[in-house]
Amino acid sequence: MAAGKGTRLKSKHPKVLHEIGGKPILAHVIATAQKVVPAQHIFVIIGHEAERVREAVAATGVNCVRHGEQRGTGHARMVAREALSGYDQIIVLSGDAPLITAETVKKLSEFHTTQRATMTLLSADLDNPHGYGRVIRKGNATDVQAIVEEKAATSKQKKVREINSGFYAFSGPALYEHIDSLSTDNAHGEYYLTDMAGIFNRARKKVVAIKTADAGEVLGSNTRAEMMMLDARLRLAKCRALLDAGVTVFYPHTCVIDSDVEVGADTVIEPFVQLLGQTKVGADCRIRSYSVITNSVIGDRVVVKPGTIMEDSRVGAGATLGPYTHMRPGSEVGEGAHLGNFVETKKIKLGKGSKANHLTYLGDAEIGDGVNIGAGTITCNYDGVNKHKTVIEDGVFVGSDSTLVAPVRLGRGSYVAAASCITDDVPADALAFGRARQSLKEGWAKATREKRRSSLVVTP
Ligand code: UD1
Ligand code: CA
Repeated sequence: MAAGKGTRLKSKHPKVLHEIGGKPILAHVIATAQKVVPAQHIFVIIGHEAERVREAVAATGVNCVRHGEQRGTGHARMVAREALSGYDQIIVLSGDAPLITAETVKKLSEFHTTQRATMTLLSADLDNPHGYGRVIRKGNATDVQAIVEEKAATSKQKKVREINSGFYAFSGPALYEHIDSLSTDNAHGEYYLTDMAGIFNRARKKVVAIKTADAGEVLGSNTRAEMMMLDARLRLAKCRALLDAGVTVFYPHTCVIDSDVEVGADTVIEPFVQLLGQTKVGADCRIRSYSVITNSVIGDRVVVKPGTIMEDSRVGAGATLGPYTHMRPGSEVGEGAHLGNFVETKKIKLGKGSKANHLTYLGDAEIGDGVNIGAGTITCNYDGVNKHKTVIEDGVFVGSDSTLVAPVRLGRGSYVAAASCITDDVPADALAFGRARQSLKEGWAKATREKRRSSLVVTP
């Protein structure tokens, strides 16, 4: 169920597309569902901002059912009648409760089958059950009499700590045989799916509940505060999984590591590091503080010094980055290469063992192996209209403070004198000078100083 607006978030974005652990809440729920059944048997109920939600889940191959006018959780089931008509068992997941695990969903489904129930709900004991529907049990332990929503609960019922999680298993045929008995005679004037518990009881059908071992799994994200709590839980669990896999994470609560990030054993992650999106970090690396790495691949034994920013880029084994290197999308750095302080790159290939250690911009460039780029070098890749390419072949030495005006090629083993402005190709093994020759005026400084001093003598 993902049709709701999420009024309590005060947001222009649909609730289920808000992110926790670096990806949409709904994506977590779908990933769990896909561990239980294949995508073609998963139906997402969309309504509020339906097209945005549909687009966000398109790549997974799940089906969408339009819930145009949202008249409650029961109504969401009514609009899916046709899509779900062939199914013997229907499992309902809440699109806004992302921590649910596939193991729990499987347990819910199995319990439903072994109990031969018509409706099975997943429940949980909460210390603070406020706001949730309460599970009213029958005299025996497993069977459920009804679910009572907070607003309709008596003060005695409000004391019940067992809540309805919003996850259910239904007998498909029985659900659709009885769903038209739902009414909107309640505090919100909606069709409540929860009312099916009472309806089935009156029809002498079996309604049971199974309690989660970990109540944290069913928590919903109705408010920003709840979302923040779920995010913290998910990220802490991610850090624990990394620690178990042999990664050292110092002060995990200061790091922001997204759910899909992979890190190799013996890598050390210092405080205040962010590893985001589909980032993969190899083994034996050190990622130092304040680095923010997004959708990037880092080989083994790479040292990332403080304050490095990487986006959609790749770095080979044994390379060194930072401090304060900025790798923009499409930067590929070879094995053992170095990028140092205040070096910005964009859409480049830098070969094995090549170095650009200080204050440099390299954009739209193909740079070979064993190249040395001096401090302050700039590829002038943009003429105000188009971008042009710079090619620097293997073994080139670019002196400090050079500007390379693209399109331009520096041939293999060539040498660029410091402070050159290179506008023409340089052949292999040549030396290029692109600056005015130095001229000298002997004694000029001394003479000037003396002239200034004499002009300071005040005459009466
Ligand atoms: C619901 C349950 C409550 C339970 C709680 C657990 C009902 C009446 N109450 O309350 O017993 O304790 O979940 O979190 O079901 N949705 C639609 N179409 C609609 C309305 C909602 O698709 O017309 C979707 C929402 O996007 C959401 C889910 O259904 O994903 C639950 O709706 P929500 O309004 O959050 O229900 P709760 O008030 O939390
Ligand atoms: Ca909810």
